[in-house]
Amino acid sequence: MECNIAVLPGDGIGPEVVKQGLKVLSGVSQRYGHKFSFQYGDVGGIAIDKTGSPLPEETIKISQQSDAVFFGAIGDPKYDLDPKAKVRPEQGLLGIRKALGLFCNIRPVKIYENLAHLAPIKKEYLQDVDLVIYRELIGGIYFGEKGRSPDGKTAFDTCTYHVPEIERIAHLAFKQAQKRRKKLTLVDKANVLESSRLWRETIQQMAGKYLDVQVDYLFVDNAAMQLIINPSQFDVILTENMFGDILSDESSVLAGSLGLIPSASIGEKTSLFEPIHGSYPQATGKDIANPIATVLSVAMMLDHLNLSDEARAVESAVSKLLLADLGTPDLHTTGTLSCSQAGDLLEALVSDESMEIDERKFHQGSSTII
Ligand code: IPM
Ligand code: MG
Repeated sequence: MECNIAVLPGDGIGPEVVKQGLKVLSGVSQRYGHKFSFQYGDVGGIAIDKTGSPLPEETIKISQQSDAVFFGAIGDPKYDLDPKAKVRPEQGLLGIRKALGLFCNIRPVKIYENLAHLAPIKKEYLQDVDLVIYRELIGGIYFGEKGRSPDGKTAFDTCTYHVPEIERIAHLAFKQAQKRRKKLTLVDKANVLESSRLWRETIQQMAGKYLDVQVDYLFVDNAAMQLIINPSQFDVILTENMFGDILSDESSVLAGSLGLIPSASIGEKTSLFEPIHGSYPQATGKDIANPIATVLSVAMMLDHLNLSDEARAVESAVSKLLLADLGTPDLHTTGTLSCSQAGDLLEALVSDESMEIDERKFHQGSSTII
């Protein structure tokens, strides 16, 4: 199979983790004989530095013409410290989401047994945790009308949703629930917000078409608490843009590191795949970033391209690495890998299914592989 992938590495650790993801794709090519071709585009702070725009036209064009977009991270502290900045790296990410119509952001959270101790939550609460967040991505308060009063002393952001915007993501979430444990939890703030009441009303109506799916409704404040005290109750969480942003970072704590959570953003035509973490500027260039979220985003991309055996091969390489108690410093494993070493090892594991890791050899510093 031939695939044309737009690669947008972005800022901070984005380029480093994307590089490891590309190694893993090369492992997939070696094993399965696919041909991936790559078109690079600038986005975020680096694009501002080069062109003045966080999302140059060329980047949109490359992305629209691709079979999938592979995205790193955006963000630069020099903009965070200047709330008055008119042009910001984040506009690049929000802009590409809008330009490609990426209405459905999928963020799976699963726990690796030997990393459970990393979560600041008792291990017994983490048993059977396997959830996925379906976050609406191009509506709500992120994209509503916003502004300032003429004297600058009043500001507003509005949250608007239309029924079709809710329905299109909800269909995907219901269908996913049917394939999983058949439970869908709508998270909203319907006791206060009119837009949340529209979400609830729409889901209640749709539930009749998915009778095999059990639907629960939770207010977001309660959901934030339930994610900590009883996270295994969740299967598919469906929610609007900002609640999904917040709850997905919270859920990553269950897995032990933000560096483990991948995402897929499903679009009307082209879809985009990115780790949920940001550009982690403090780690940039130090070769310490965790590439696993990015590598697992590659697995989600392969699934989306109907290459499911290939996706499973990538996931299994990640499991082998973690089970051997190897990982980047954020995972506090007995064997510490740099970002690029982790990428090399994952590429090797993907390209050769029979390859096993010998942790003892690794700890002796000789070789990681037999
Ligand atoms: C995310 C990020 C983005 C968001 C930022 C960088 C704009 O936090 O993808 O979760 O808020 O959507
Ligand atoms: Mg976020």
